[in-house]
Amino acid sequence: MGDQGAVGHEKSVVARAAAGLVEPGMTVGLGTGSTVAHLLSALVRRGTPATYVATSPHTEEQARALRLRVLPFGTIERFDLAIDGADQVAPDGWLVKGGGAAHTREKVVAATADRFVVIVDSTKPVAVLAPPVPIEILSFGGASTLRRLAAVGPVRLRSGAVPSPDGGLICDYLGAVGDPERLAAALQSVPGVVAHGLFPPRMVADVLVGRGDEVEWRRTAP
Ligand code: A5P
Repeated sequence: MGDQGAVGHEKSVVARAAAGLVEPGMTVGLGTGSTVAHLLSALVRRGTPATYVATSPHTEEQARALRLRVLPFGTIERFDLAIDGADQVAPDGWLVKGGGAAHTREKVVAATADRFVVIVDSTKPVAVLAPPVPIEILSFGGASTLRRLAAVGPVRLRSGAVPSPDGGLICDYLGAVGDPERLAAALQSVPGVVAHGLFPPRMVADVLVGRGDEVEWRRTAP
C-alpha cells in the first residue's frame, strides 16, 4: 500500500495532525485504509477520551486491538468529527474513495459528521480525477445492474474483490470522469447502485495533505 519510507512518513504526519482535532467527549467516525491505520496509532498516543465508530470491520478490529472505545453505529445520529483517507483529491475538493471497498459506509459516516476531515499523503492530490471510480452494487440482480451501468460507461467487476462489509459487489467505472457532479448523478441514478466513490466538496470540511514533514491544510466546505 505504499506505506513505507517517505509516503508512510507523510501519512503519519497528517494522522498526527488530525488526531489533534479530537477533543475529550467527542464521537468520531474512523475511515478505512493505511492512512487511517496511522491515525489509530496517533489517537492512542494522544490518549484523548473519545468514542469511535468504524467504517469497516478491519478498522474496528484494529481500533479495538489498540483499546480505543468503539461503538456500533446503531442509534448514533451525529458525529462531531469523521476522519478518513482518500484515493484522489481534486483541486476543487472532489474526492475519489473506495480503493478499500468501504466507500458506502465511509460516505454514510462522512455525511453524519459535523466535520469531515480527509488525510492524505502527497501522492493523492491530482490535477484531474481519473478512473477507476469504485462503485458498490447490490449482489441481488448484479448482472442486470452491470448491464445498465454500461450505458453510463465502461464498468468492470473488481477482480478478486471480496464483497463490501454489507455484502455488496464492488466494481469500478473505467471511463473518463469529466464533470464529477454529472458522473455522480448518472451512476447514482442506476437502480441497484448502492453508492459510488465520488465524494463532493460540500461533504468535506478539510483536506490535510502530508508533504515531507509539513501539513498542507486545505479548507473545503464553509
Ligand atoms: C477505503 O474504502 C478507501 O476509501 C480508503 O479510504 C482510501 O482508499 C484511502 O486508503 P489509503 O489510506 O490506504 O490510501
